[in-house]
Amino acid sequence: MAVVCVCLLPTFQATAAVKSVIVCIECHARLPVKFSQPVLLWQASIHAEHGIMCNTCHGGDPMDSANAMNPARGYRGAPLPPAIPGLCGSCSSGALSAQ
Ligand code: HEC
Ligand code: HEC
Repeated sequence: MAVVCVCLLPTFQATAAVKSVIVCIECHARLPVKFSQPVLLWQASIHAEHGIMCNTCHGGDPMDSANAMNPARGYRGAPLPPAIPGLCGSCSSGALSAQ
């Protein structure tokens, strides 16, 4: 029995660590389509593949559900259309000239 406990401990810690970085995804996945569709789009995207998380673009605190969308934690909201090419261009060079 003691052996089982020792084996499970690292698994539990790894699960907790993964969970703590995705409060945006956990909450948004349960919201109406307008606010949950971005999760589905992101999951299938090149951004997810490269570890570009929700908070990379939107700001906020992905580890603290209660304050995730608090501007004091850097939350910026959804960019308006005129600001989007500049946001993309801050990582992907050529985003401005590709319009
Ligand atoms: C506990 C639930 C919850 C968590 C955690 C959460 N959100 Fe939200 N989010 C909402 C709800 C509800 C709305 C829609 C109502 C509103 O805008 O407040 C929303 C709206 C948004 C919007 C749209 C705002 C707009 O102007 O249309 C963005 C962007 C967003 N969330 C990003 C994030 C990011 C990034 C994180 C993690 C850092 C996050 N959210 C974490 C519940 C959550
Ligand atoms: C690569 C940058 C990027 C990432 C990563 C990203 N978003 Fe967004 N998101 C945007 C942009 C740009 C918009 C505004 C354009 C639009 O509404 O489609 C937006 C819009 C939204 C909206 C508003 C949708 C609406 O119809 O009003 C929500 C909610 C949202 N994102 C949530 C999230 C969540 C949750 C994640 C993580 C699973 C995430 N986003 C990841 C760039 C990003």
